[in-house]
Amino acid sequence: MKRVLFVCLGNICRSPAAEAIMAKIVAERGLQGQIDIDSAGTSGYHSGRPADARMAAALTARGYTATSKSRPVDPTVDFADFDRIVAMDDSNYADLHNLAEIYGKPADKIVKICDYRQKLDAAEVPDPYYGGARGFDTVIDILEDALQPFADELQSQASEPFTPS
Ligand code: 4NP
Repeated sequence: MKRVLFVCLGNICRSPAAEAIMAKIVAERGLQGQIDIDSAGTSGYHSGRPADARMAAALTARGYTATSKSRPVDPTVDFADFDRIVAMDDSNYADLHNLAEIYGKPADKIVKICDYRQKLDAAEVPDPYYGGARGFDTVIDILEDALQPFADELQSQASEPFTPS
């Protein structure tokens, strides 16, 4: 089992989208039970809320279902519980490294989702919160591009035999 935590600022737009798209990839590949997915925010501003209605509508229009409920990253458990902690932008990435340092946790599981992109020329998943409707589709475009290779990597590792150390 590989456990993945997608992280953005508010956990109501980008990381819920990553969670929804990844859930569909996992279902399509029959990997339930091998890859477990969650999402969180570096802030707790929107704690307890479902995905932003604009993000949820854009996801629905493209065949995905947003199921998240916003929560802040909990460094005391998340760095131990997850195999990959996946930042949507450089600011999330820096914030996660700060949390790892402050709480004395390993930072090597923190990755940027855009490091996995294939076709699209995007260094970050841009924050769509204060922009127009097109921003939500851009988030989905970038995540669709990056999450397939990300899933390939996880899938190959999830099926590796367990070797006791
Ligand atoms: P997210 O988008 O980080 O993709 O969930 C945002 C949501 C809320 C805010 C900023 C970004 N905000 O400032 O409230």
